[in-house]
Amino acid sequence: MLWTRCFVIDMKELLSIENLTVAAGSKLLVDQVSFDVPKGKIVAIAGGSGSGKTTIGLSILRLLASPLSIRQGSIFFEGRNLLELSDEEIRRCRGARIGVVFQEPLSAFDPLFTIGRQLDETLVAHTKMSKQERYKKILGILSEVELSNPQRAYESYPHQLSGGMRQRAMVAQAMVCGPSLIIADEPTSSLDVTLQVKIAGILDSLKKKDVSVLLISHDLGMISHVADEVIILCQGKMVEQGPARQVIDSPRHEYTRQLVLATM
Ligand SMILES: Nc1ncnc2c1ncn2[C@@H]1O[C@H](COP(=O)(O)OP(=O)(O)OP(=O)(O)O)[C@@H](O)[C@H]1O
Ligand SMILES: [Mg+2]
Repeated sequence: MLWTRCFVIDMKELLSIENLTVAAGSKLLVDQVSFDVPKGKIVAIAGGSGSGKTTIGLSILRLLASPLSIRQGSIFFEGRNLLELSDEEIRRCRGARIGVVFQEPLSAFDPLFTIGRQLDETLVAHTKMSKQERYKKILGILSEVELSNPQRAYESYPHQLSGGMRQRAMVAQAMVCGPSLIIADEPTSSLDVTLQVKIAGILDSLKKKDVSVLLISHDLGMISHVADEVIILCQGKMVEQGPARQVIDSPRHEYTRQLVLATM
């Protein structure tokens, strides 16, 4: 009984970042950042260009490249500190338990292979599904991200899709293995307003499946629309944190006020 209680409490926070500090040489790019992403919630990180948003996302994925390195902190995900996993363990986690949506889907997809084949490769790498099961799963996911002709999207090469369709295919790629967390770094910044609304709707629908999203964005309009919580970052430091609507509608910190004025 006691064990069940502890388990439930632990699992409430899917991702828990404590005192994360990232530096390049003597320069601190992320300074003692702590926050949680609960199960089935959308938590956004907002802040000006260069404030360290992407660096936090890359730290979670353990994809920081030299000269950037994590100086301090812990990143607990599904009960394990990601910073202590072996390279093989983190590779298995990426793509399977943590899906990623990058800003520019053209660079994320290989131009030489169809979207279907690339999604299939992700499933081959992380699951034991049969070819037929994988095909069915991929068509299902492509239609979930509202690609009206999933079969056509499956057979298309990345350049044959429009920017908005590619971005949705990227979300499908992030979702295909059924991750519990999706990190979406500026998923809508290259899209027009209609498509931004569509992507926001897709992110919102993930919550119903108990998937959590770490949304990295400077778009406070979208954040106030879809995110449960927001963290405001200024030069690597958290300056404000709270329910997204509340923080954006009545910011307490001067930097947040300026950000709201500049972006909404
Ligand atoms: N390879 C690197 N070497 C040195 N400094 C770096 C490197 N990569 C990033 N930085 C610095 O780290 C800081 C944070 O960068 P990051 O990309 O995380 O910002 P961001 O908030 O995602 O910005 P944007 O909104 O423009 O995407 C910036 O000051 C940037 O110059
Ligand atoms: Mg960035």
